[in-house]
Amino acid sequence: MTDILTIRRPDDWHVHLRDGSMLEAVAGYTARQFARAIVMPNLAPPVTTTAAARAYRERIMAALPEDSDFTPLMTAYLTDTIDADDLAAGHAEGVFTAAKLYPAGATTNSDSGVTDVANIYGVIERMEAIDMPLLIHGEVTDSEIDIFDREAVFIERILEPLTRKFPALRIVFEHITTANAVAFVKDTGPNIAATITPHHCVINRNAMFTGGIRPHAYCLPVAKREPHRLAVRAAAVSGSSKFFLGTDTAPHVRGDKESSCGCAGIFNAPFALESYAEVFAAEGALDQLEGFASEHGPRFYGLPLNEGTVTLRRAPTDVPDAIALEGAEIVPFQAGETLGWTLD
Ligand code: DOR
Ligand code: ZN
Repeated sequence: MTDILTIRRPDDWHVHLRDGSMLEAVAGYTARQFARAIVMPNLAPPVTTTAAARAYRERIMAALPEDSDFTPLMTAYLTDTIDADDLAAGHAEGVFTAAKLYPAGATTNSDSGVTDVANIYGVIERMEAIDMPLLIHGEVTDSEIDIFDREAVFIERILEPLTRKFPALRIVFEHITTANAVAFVKDTGPNIAATITPHHCVINRNAMFTGGIRPHAYCLPVAKREPHRLAVRAAAVSGSSKFFLGTDTAPHVRGDKESSCGCAGIFNAPFALESYAEVFAAEGALDQLEGFASEHGPRFYGLPLNEGTVTLRRAPTDVPDAIALEGAEIVPFQAGETLGWTLD
């Protein structure tokens, strides 16, 4: 039995670092675990220009602990009217690593998202030409579609046609939650990959209703039935280079979660690696964790692998019930539980 696991320093290919006092409170958690992270642009207002991304990157750097050598990788928030020239210039300058497609209304701060993907075909064509990755929140927003089917319907209606129309476009299907998404990613060419969160490996939809309503298990895309969780988990540990680590850590203060209309998002940054390690250990696949956490992502993005290592030890980590921030608190993923691994 492996009790000590040393792997190349990992990256997080999907985080919400927020802004202002929340950014100050959470940035250190991601920086403690990861060398780089793809930073989501769904601020209010969203990050839609190179200038806004540059300024946001500076605010992130200022919020980091003194001794950290963490690199935020910025993304652009696509809108119906995004300026393709600015987007391409931001990419050429190295400000934008990728651009994010939020279908309008799909999730937190997505109101300015894309109302119809056809509206940005010109922009996507440009991204394909300059080899700028497109990151996708893959859910339809049609209120007639059952919330548990929105990812599967998105694949049929939007994603599959998009991959045919733009065959050279690099796409990351973010935070996949269904067996349908796993199959689609596996069966489509090498330029389609997916991120997988710790929570979608660990919980199914029952977690939202265990003995009452559990707002801290609510995120988008929402957790699905058990067979979907098992398919997502199997993909994560499979060793396939098409699947890599993206926590989708999405902090909201307790009051915004425990509310008559609670926000979607799970804050898993403090112990993300420990959560993933537990999943890989349970599947007898600890030897696949390094690929998933530290190699598949950079290779897909065309970035160098990190130097240095981190070490996980088979030792208990108690996840606190809450994490305090100025005048409020955030409830982390797996609050009150004991995880079987500890990051040195
Ligand atoms: O659960 C989620 N929270 N899903 C998202 O897509 C957005 C995120 C957030 O920003 O809170
Ligand atoms: Zn997200």
